[in-house]
Amino acid sequence: MRKNPVIPFAVIAVLGIVAMIIVSAAGINQREAIQNQEENGGEHQEESGGDTAASSDPEQLFQNSCASCHGGDLSGGAGPNLQEVGSRYSAEEIQDIIVNGKGSMPPGLYTGEEAQIVAEWLAEKQ
Ligand code: HEC
Repeated sequence: MRKNPVIPFAVIAVLGIVAMIIVSAAGINQREAIQNQEENGGEHQEESGGDTAASSDPEQLFQNSCASCHGGDLSGGAGPNLQEVGSRYSAEEIQDIIVNGKGSMPPGLYTGEEAQIVAEWLAEKQ
């Protein structure tokens, strides 16, 4: 009896399909692993962001240079109360006040990115 010449191709095709199934199953596992990693990684990033980047933490920046006049809880002192400053000024206007000063508030306490970070944080205080 002659061998059916199609059989080797059929075997290869079946092997190929099996390989595809194995690869995609492995892919699904990997995808889940990556998703878990991303979830954990996100948390880690947030944690380390809070720990290491003190200079980009607006609250820290405020405590360092603004709290002496505006109070540690924004309630004011030598400077006005800032607890609802976001309802009076936009982030841009607050940034302008930080960079250029206002009345007896000295200019240049923060400039550039730091001024923007503090301004955006204060603009949320409404
Ligand atoms: C030396 C004291 C002093 C420091 C330090 C200081 N301020 Fe002020 N700030 C003032 C005074 C005084 C005013 C009121 C100025 C005026 O209206 O004539 C003021 C006004 C402001 C206003 C406008 C408030 C309003 O209702 O008009 C904002 C916003 C502000 N300060 C933010 C900041 C931020 C942010 C910092 C830190 C980077 C800071 N200040 C540091 C004294 C200070």
